[in-house]
Amino acid sequence: MSTAAGHDQGDAAQLLAGRRICVCVGAGGVGKTTTAAALAIGMAMRGLKVVVVTIDPARRLANALGLESLDNEPRRVLGGERSDARTAAMPEISGELWAVMLDPKRTFDELIDRVAPTPQRAAEIKRNGVYRQLSGAVAGSQEFTAIEKLYELAEDDYDLLVLDTPPAHSATEFLNAPGRLTAFLGGGALQTLLRPTGLGMRLLGIGASPLLAALRLVTGVDLLTDLTRFLTLIGGMTGEFSARAARVEALLHAQTTGFVLVTTAQTHPVQEAIWFRDTLRASSMPFAGTIVNRVAPVVAPSTQAVGESPLPAALADRLLACAEDHAILANRDRANVARLRERFGDEPLLIVPDLDERLTDVDGLVMIQRELFRV
Ligand SMILES: Nc1ncnc2c1ncn2[C@@H]1O[C@H](COP(=O)(O)OP(=O)(O)O)[C@@H](O)[C@H]1O
Ligand SMILES: [Mg+2]
Repeated sequence: MSTAAGHDQGDAAQLLAGRRICVCVGAGGVGKTTTAAALAIGMAMRGLKVVVVTIDPARRLANALGLESLDNEPRRVLGGERSDARTAAMPEISGELWAVMLDPKRTFDELIDRVAPTPQRAAEIKRNGVYRQLSGAVAGSQEFTAIEKLYELAEDDYDLLVLDTPPAHSATEFLNAPGRLTAFLGGGALQTLLRPTGLGMRLLGIGASPLLAALRLVTGVDLLTDLTRFLTLIGGMTGEFSARAARVEALLHAQTTGFVLVTTAQTHPVQEAIWFRDTLRASSMPFAGTIVNRVAPVVAPSTQAVGESPLPAALADRLLACAEDHAILANRDRANVARLRERFGDEPLLIVPDLDERLTDVDGLVMIQRELFRV
């Protein structure tokens, strides 16, 4: 392709060969959601039944995928029997593309339904104030529920699952969050709280304190009662949670899973990408490769051509300044891509140019797909 950053190492088909799960990770705003959708479209165009789990897609992308609402169940977007305007625009689709926009709260509720011993117990947990706070807290629960959804969909008959990941402030947040939460729900902390001599029970002892009574009066929230009840309700399920956590761990480490690192070529994201990839490798996660998104294409400005053109001098000057700015960006990108290559050796490294405002609908995703699959 035409970026002066050199040739791509491999393409998306190689990146995904033999994988059933692809997890797109990377810093916020680098293009994870877009890349996940483009990879999914690309593989559906190559005959697979693919589902993409998106999180917080930009409105335009959601519209392009026909995801107007959060319904937490995959919908067929392209291929299969469905034939609408979108499909007509993509005659070459031989597989199926399904998409779901993650609803963390619903995913959490469904998990409780599945894990609770009886529907009554599930209903009581879902009514509990502490549970409602926990499942409604967007930060943290998105990471956890994304993995949970993945686990659930892995039991269906998709050939490939592409998982987008939340707009984490830093890469570690995503990798650690599911573990943190499952460790809490399934692990020793709860048991400790629930022991008669544990902190939970001691907290109960102070439940009668005037301060808490006043708080209850003012806020109407009976925190301690809710908390104790929550811990008791969930207490019997910790075994189930840890078993599930272990199965999710196994799924994420499977050789048929691949983490795809998405980054831009800007200096800070590149630094974070290097760190992210090293962390994945160190925790023996199956690393598939890197996609460098939004790389500024090198367009050689011809000073002479502008100088000789019949444009008014002021306009010509501004054009030249513009071209120079662009060249600076393109050079920076090229240097950063070179840095990544040096660090990552001959691992797959794919380049996607910046498409500017052209990325508006399915056609835009198909363009990105073309870059990724090098067609
Ligand atoms: N190759 C590209 N060219 C142009 N715009 C892009 C490209 N990739 C992503 N974008 C735009 O960048 C913004 C962030 O992308 P998004 O996929 O939502 O990132 P993330 O999921 O990592 O936060 C979106 O507005 C998207 O349309
Ligand atoms: Mg996103």
